[in-house]
Amino acid sequence: MKKISIIGGCGHVGIPLGLAFASKNFDVTLVDVNPQAVENINSAHLPFKEDGAEEMLAAHVGKNLWATSDASVVRKQDVVVFVTGTPVDEHLNPKIHDVLKVVTAYLPLLDKRQLIVLRSTIFPGVTRIVEETLKAKFGVANLAFCPERIVQGKGIEEIFNLPQLVSGVNKKAENAAAALFAAIAPKIIRLSCEEAELAKLMTNAWRYLEFAIANQFYMMVEKQGLDFYRILDAMKADYPRAKHFARAGLAAGPCLFKDTMQLSAFHNNEFFLGHSAMLVNEGLPNFLVSQLEAKMGSSLKGKKIGVMGLAFKADNDDIRESLSFKVKKLLEMKMAEVLVTDEFVPGTMPLRKFVKDCDGIILGVPHSAYRQLKIKKPFVDCWGCWR
Ligand SMILES: NC(=O)c1ccc[n+]([C@@H]2O[C@H](COP(=O)([O-])OP(=O)(O)OC[C@H]3O[C@@H](n4cnc5c(N)ncnc54)[C@H](O)[C@@H]3O)[C@@H](O)[C@H]2O)c1
Repeated sequence: MKKISIIGGCGHVGIPLGLAFASKNFDVTLVDVNPQAVENINSAHLPFKEDGAEEMLAAHVGKNLWATSDASVVRKQDVVVFVTGTPVDEHLNPKIHDVLKVVTAYLPLLDKRQLIVLRSTIFPGVTRIVEETLKAKFGVANLAFCPERIVQGKGIEEIFNLPQLVSGVNKKAENAAAALFAAIAPKIIRLSCEEAELAKLMTNAWRYLEFAIANQFYMMVEKQGLDFYRILDAMKADYPRAKHFARAGLAAGPCLFKDTMQLSAFHNNEFFLGHSAMLVNEGLPNFLVSQLEAKMGSSLKGKKIGVMGLAFKADNDDIRESLSFKVKKLLEMKMAEVLVTDEFVPGTMPLRKFVKDCDGIILGVPHSAYRQLKIKKPFVDCWGCWR
């Protein structure tokens, strides 16, 4: 049985990955600085919503999967995977030092026999910097970069079905990483480290742009008093080239925005399409608030305005970087009394009371439970659920 440690293992990427390897008989240790998340895992409790993960966790925890905050466990491993977060800073540039700090902190515990895998979404060139760090200590680097491409909430299903991009700083590392991921992925696609770093960032930036064009068209059309979804449906009907055109919606979450900005920083801040997409996507909350104001025909001051759905995507409990909070903030600036509901977010109002109490509603995210509602108050729904 191969021993594998995942650093940042109790996060959104670490858990599905750890469970996938555990299901293929690896001996998995999830290393994490968050003691609450470690405790949750060891008591077979999933810290967030992830389809199919709860059952797998129950099957493997305490048998061939554990969580710990004790970093020294990495000494005993064959493979060490790093999946800690990779945010951008206040200038929207990648915080490269965050990645390097984590790797450097674990350096005294690593040895040159181990395969080291970077799995976080990183700024192009970071793999080579880590290679130099490892070489300075060991003389060689057994290092791979294999980006994660799962979509949150469906990670377990996707991890076994998506091709895995694999790169290594040398053939030995690339082959070892390819053999490792062949255990869980249906297909291995080999790239150079630089290509793999860019492939991941470009995938996320492209998705962010897809949402931006839908959002731009939504604002363009609705500002004229027309119905965006009537036009979108007509565009897509039996017309294959428009089949994948996205619907409008708050484009948020911990990845798409920051990865588009990482790509822009890589291209000397000259990724104009990426920045335009950011202006559109980040501007949508302002447009939604002004739409509601127009529908209510008066100032929102003193009115009870509801934001329905706080998570950044439907049927998920992840509120990281959710634009529903920006909507809330804008409503507060209008001096509205803001009510919030989200069945997945503790401490928010029950749905029925929320709908009853609100004078007007903005749909933040279309959880399944909201789609069949018949809202009889002024509302704004850029997702096109309540048409
Ligand atoms: N969330 C996704 O769906 C997704 C998909 C593809 C790629 N990614 C990328 O994967 C990376 C991780 O994202 P995430 O969503 O899993 O983040 P996350 O915040 O959910 O998980 C990161 C985990 O790392 C832990 N951590 C931080 N510093 C640590 C340290 N020094 N030692 C051990 N643990 C530490 C945190 O406690 C946390 O549990 C990012 O680069 C992200 O862009 C995320």
